[in-house]
Amino acid sequence: MSDVRPDRGQADPEGEVVDTPMKPEGSGRLTFEEIAAKGHTATQLDPHAKPVLEVENLKMYFPVKSSGVIRRTIGHVQAVDGISFQVPSGGSLGLVGESGCGKSTTGRLITRLYTPTAGSMKFGDIQEDIAHMSPRQLKPLRRNVQMIFQDPYTSLNPRHTVGSIVGAPLEVHKIVPKKQILGRVQELLEVVGLNPEHYNRYPNEFSGGQRQRIGIARALTLNPKLLVADEPVSALDVSIQAQVINLLQDLQREFNIAFLFIAHDLAVVRHFCPEVAVMYLGKIVEIADRETIYNRAHHPYTQALLSAVPDVKQAAVGGRRERIRLEGDVPSPINPPSGCRFRTRCSLAQEICAKVEPPLLQIGPRHKVACHFAGELGNHPDNPVTGNLLGVDRTGSPVPGSTPIPLHEGPGYADEWFDVKSQSMVSA
Ligand SMILES: Nc1ncnc2c1ncn2[C@@H]1O[C@H](COP(=O)(O)OP(=O)(O)O)[C@@H](O)[C@H]1O
Ligand code: SF4
Ligand SMILES: [Mg+2]
Repeated sequence: MSDVRPDRGQADPEGEVVDTPMKPEGSGRLTFEEIAAKGHTATQLDPHAKPVLEVENLKMYFPVKSSGVIRRTIGHVQAVDGISFQVPSGGSLGLVGESGCGKSTTGRLITRLYTPTAGSMKFGDIQEDIAHMSPRQLKPLRRNVQMIFQDPYTSLNPRHTVGSIVGAPLEVHKIVPKKQILGRVQELLEVVGLNPEHYNRYPNEFSGGQRQRIGIARALTLNPKLLVADEPVSALDVSIQAQVINLLQDLQREFNIAFLFIAHDLAVVRHFCPEVAVMYLGKIVEIADRETIYNRAHHPYTQALLSAVPDVKQAAVGGRRERIRLEGDVPSPINPPSGCRFRTRCSLAQEICAKVEPPLLQIGPRHKVACHFAGELGNHPDNPVTGNLLGVDRTGSPVPGSTPIPLHEGPGYADEWFDVKSQSMVSA
């Protein structure tokens, strides 16, 4: 790493990079997107990149115990319930959804802080399933997959110096001789844009953005292939967010690190993630490339999330550009709604939505959506697009004699997909 010096931002007279909140230009405050665009061009998709991680039908159910002396399992929190996706090598996938949708649990499963209830996770060239490996087998994985946490205030031990925080993984994994650790720590501090001489300072001597840089340095210590970044900029001021995202982009480009980038809104991932998965109550409801998600989303939940992104032009509905409000909270994952989990908050919900769960259906070359009435905003069909595929009528009742069509439900995309307009299978 020593020969690489990604852009470090602005340095103060001591050589320390300082957080520099940008002043609003013109009348309004700059959006995140505008600030980010001033720094770096958006990350582009490499459609030929091999997946570094392939997740299939991943589930995490946490047991709910009764109170009392004999604590029986009385139910399960279905935090993650059968999700499949890929992260391309050196690329970045965004994972977006409101609080409580299962994003952090997904991140913790991938880093194997949790053992999944079911499903497989294949990592790297050897394509080993890491879902059920023993701690000993997992040791190499722990080096290759690291996590950046949301809160730079709580994720760093206040009693440890920055040097011991960043250097700890080197000691644990005994990668370099003890006397070389300090040099490596200083190198890492410089890579993330901090003054290498400040290794003996404590986290409370740094600002929020700088602390997040320390967290990033710690995650980089072991040269990971994949970083799970769990809302890494949510706690930061909008202009500092853009600086941290720019740093992550630099690191990705220099060291070919893949990212699973978790966020609760679609604005933050847009710049950094050429592909985005939208999660709702333990399921992926839509996944697509950037252009499709931001311009032609087909799921009502994605459309609602998009209407909160200031510079996304939503289609006009009834002659007006409307902001779609998401009423209420995400329901409890202990007892999720039957059929489509979004139905209790969806303005388009019909009888079939309560009876039949919509499959995550591929409807374009890089576009999958889970909705019986999938369509562009203001242009949702009257009849369920899934009826023929699932062998059900418009109320969701089985049609006698019809055979459901087998669907591609794994990670990644098939060469053939279901065209919702013509209601037929098409290919490129
Ligand atoms: N260790 C746990 N035990 C029980 N329930 C959990 C645990 N971790 C998360 N949950 C529940 O799982 C659901 C998803 O949580 P989480 O993955 O943190 O969502 P998000 O990161 O999208 O906000 C929530 O309802 C949460 O309360
Ligand atoms: S399946 Fe039904 S309830 Fe679910 S998002 Fe589509 S229209 Fe709404
Ligand atoms: Mg979370």
